[in-house]
Amino acid sequence: MLEHGGKLTQAARRYGIAVENWLDLSTGINPHGWPVPALPNEVWRRLPEDNDGLLDAARACYGASHLLAVSGSQAAIQVLPTLRADCLVGMLHPTYSEHAHAWAKQHRVAALNAAGIETTLDELDVLLLCNPNNPSGERFAPDTLLTWRQELAARGGWLVVDEAFIDAEPQLSIARHTGAEGLIVLRSLGKFFGLAGARVGFVAAWPALLAQMQEALGPWAINGPARAIARLALQDSVWQQHTRERLQGDSARLAALLTRHGLAPAGGSSLFQWIRTDRAAGLHEVLARQGILTRLFDAPASLRFGLPGAEGEWNRLEIALGKLA
Ligand SMILES: Cc1ncc(COP(=O)(O)O)c(C=O)c1O
Repeated sequence: MLEHGGKLTQAARRYGIAVENWLDLSTGINPHGWPVPALPNEVWRRLPEDNDGLLDAARACYGASHLLAVSGSQAAIQVLPTLRADCLVGMLHPTYSEHAHAWAKQHRVAALNAAGIETTLDELDVLLLCNPNNPSGERFAPDTLLTWRQELAARGGWLVVDEAFIDAEPQLSIARHTGAEGLIVLRSLGKFFGLAGARVGFVAAWPALLAQMQEALGPWAINGPARAIARLALQDSVWQQHTRERLQGDSARLAALLTRHGLAPAGGSSLFQWIRTDRAAGLHEVLARQGILTRLFDAPASLRFGLPGAEGEWNRLEIALGKLA
């Protein structure tokens, strides 16, 4: 199992600080997630059905015609590599580590940097990018991605774009261009909507690939309550618009706060900021001893900060950063 943010009970044990006293900035989950209502009893009692409106809501929200709902984009990340014969897959390093972990089980994985993609593309069978990238925040323009998709698809290759952190910047998304062979887009309700615990995500791709994935995942891949909540959240365009503005403001505020304390971000998204520093391990430790959990990366040495929520949390972070110097 790989390291991930959000392991609060582990941190509580290690530092002797009760779970409820932590400020958890170790994930990129929106601290002001979509407000989940109580659900009708039959949602719990009945088996989930495909025609419950979830896919229509996702199609309208993402502008994609062909979608499969999955139990978090993690489910798709694990299945995708099983749908190709041995091949060469290029992806950035660092990026969300589950991708390399899943592909390396039966394929060759090449670590790329963003500047090297263009020159390496003709050697690759699959190019996999997170847009924006987690944790480095690199972004890829839709036109560039669509050109790469065309080159790959012409020889049976795939472009896989993980858009888990794109919801606050919908103009970057290429979900609406899916449907033809060679382009696979992953979306998640875990980050922007703050519904990571519900485990809902989507794959947008061409129908034959979605049918293969559905076959691999089997029936009732998402539970009924999660489907009901996801549908309502995807239909709530007023909340989404408000949240885009809020997250962009909060992300800029976090970048400014870190910069004021000598930790200027090397990159980020609407939901996190990424700091590259040789002091990463030491800073992580000092903050953790004050009950503030960040996400530490070894290579390259770096720290990722998620967004504080309530004003008291911003103050707490500011005070802790002030003691770092
Ligand atoms: C870039 C990226 N993609 C996908 C995921 C998986 O998200 P989920 O399975 O909750 O949809 C994560 C989780 O951290 C992520 O950072």
